[in-house]
Amino acid sequence: MEFQVIGKDINSLQGEALVVGVYQEQVLSPVAARIDEKMSSLLKDFLKDIHFKAEVGECVFMPGHKEVKFKNIIMVGLGEKEKLSLDTVRQAAAAGLKKAKELRHKEVCFELLGEETLGDETAKALAEGVELGDYQFDKYKKKEDEVKIEKVKILGEEKLKNWLELGQKLAEAANFTRNIVNEPGNVIKPADLAEIAQKLAEKYGLECTVYDEERLKAEKMHGILAVGQGSAHPPRFIHLVYKPQNPSKRVVFIGKGITFDSGGLDIKPEQYMKTMKCDKAGACAVLGIMKAVAELKLDVEVHGLIPTAENMPGGNAFRPDDIIVYKNGKGVEIANTDAEGRLILADALIYGSALKPDIMIDMATLTGACMVALGRFTTGIFTPQEELAAKIKALGEKTGEKFWQLPLDDDLKEELKSTFADIKNVGSRYGGAITAALFLKEFVGEEVKNWVHLDIAGPAFLEKPWKYYAEGATGVPVRTMVELLREK
Ligand code: BES
Ligand code: ZN
Ligand code: ZN
Repeated sequence: MEFQVIGKDINSLQGEALVVGVYQEQVLSPVAARIDEKMSSLLKDFLKDIHFKAEVGECVFMPGHKEVKFKNIIMVGLGEKEKLSLDTVRQAAAAGLKKAKELRHKEVCFELLGEETLGDETAKALAEGVELGDYQFDKYKKKEDEVKIEKVKILGEEKLKNWLELGQKLAEAANFTRNIVNEPGNVIKPADLAEIAQKLAEKYGLECTVYDEERLKAEKMHGILAVGQGSAHPPRFIHLVYKPQNPSKRVVFIGKGITFDSGGLDIKPEQYMKTMKCDKAGACAVLGIMKAVAELKLDVEVHGLIPTAENMPGGNAFRPDDIIVYKNGKGVEIANTDAEGRLILADALIYGSALKPDIMIDMATLTGACMVALGRFTTGIFTPQEELAAKIKALGEKTGEKFWQLPLDDDLKEELKSTFADIKNVGSRYGGAITAALFLKEFVGEEVKNWVHLDIAGPAFLEKPWKYYAEGATGVPVRTMVELLREK
């Protein structure tokens, strides 16, 4: 999609569709004045007749008129003016774009906020809303006379161009992640994820090393090997590096890459197994972050680590009661083969610690318990570093990706006590998201000053459309993580 900034004079404009924002308080003193005096009363009556409430994202259209020079005018609700936020802008932009598409336009012009602006960030949010809202995973559907919006025009000053571009790149990185997450388990196996990483590395000049089974054995990555051993498709470990000239810091991202989680021998019941192609969302987020970092040429050294396996109950599958000894000497008793994510992440956390990062962040669709605690839309933050948690949460308020911190309560460590090994991989039902995080913490080296675990089990993959997201993968938390790297 091409973004274009055009002057501010709406009267000099013409085109296919015009999208105008309407505040709840101003439904009856609309927009129309911003477009065309003559149109004003017409629009007022129309909005009144249809009881337009101007709720966020609510959308109606009216055919244009010869002096307005647009074929259709799309009015989109912005809700209460007081509550206007960047996420309102994303939602409104997405809704306007969808309506324009429905009306089969190829080009759309946005005049969302009128005289109001939220500053440059508004343009960025608008571009994000448009790109995220336009996304759908339809490659396996036959296309019949598909419409594509080719051009998006924005009324405003030239300098907005850079902000639109930034928003577009962030959203494209998230959409790149979504495309991989949405691919099913028969299409993406661990080796395929590695191939995608290698292609990405080639395109952007990143370093990329892929560890196959033999190399995994040599490196004592016993968690990845155990989880992968029941599948016909062997596991991998992927290490991507983006290294600029004079990096300001070194950050390691780790993503859970279970290409399908059947539960293993502790097999999942059918209603829980469905959608488990999403269990690679953390890994795909790593790929999206690497893409964005390279596109934006950030001055941070970034390592992307992906442990990847398919969790299957094959003849060679790992079992309950099995004991794995990790490279750091810790023995882990398997209490449940469905708690596999923490087992593969443990190898990556040991490996990541050795890179001596300033910050290490792991992202994983780790526990159903986190969804029980926080709902479907919120990522759980677990970290001993309170400031970092606060920073991520605050960034999320801007990006529209929601985060909430849960405690790393050491008292719950007792849950992981094992009779036969140092720890076991699950505790009781209670505090399941926290005990998972406590398990991970056991594998973070003492030299790592800042470590954060993000449980994205809820928001990474939606069972119904929400805001500007279609059903399926969302790309969470790619945009927030890139914002974190962009911060000085
Ligand atoms: N991949 C799941 C967690 C998950 C659940 C992700 C729902 C996305 C949506 C994970 O591997 C898992 O199975 N966790 C178990 C842990 C339990 C066995 C302690 C769970 O949450 O039930
Ligand atoms: Zn599982
Ligand atoms: Zn899993």
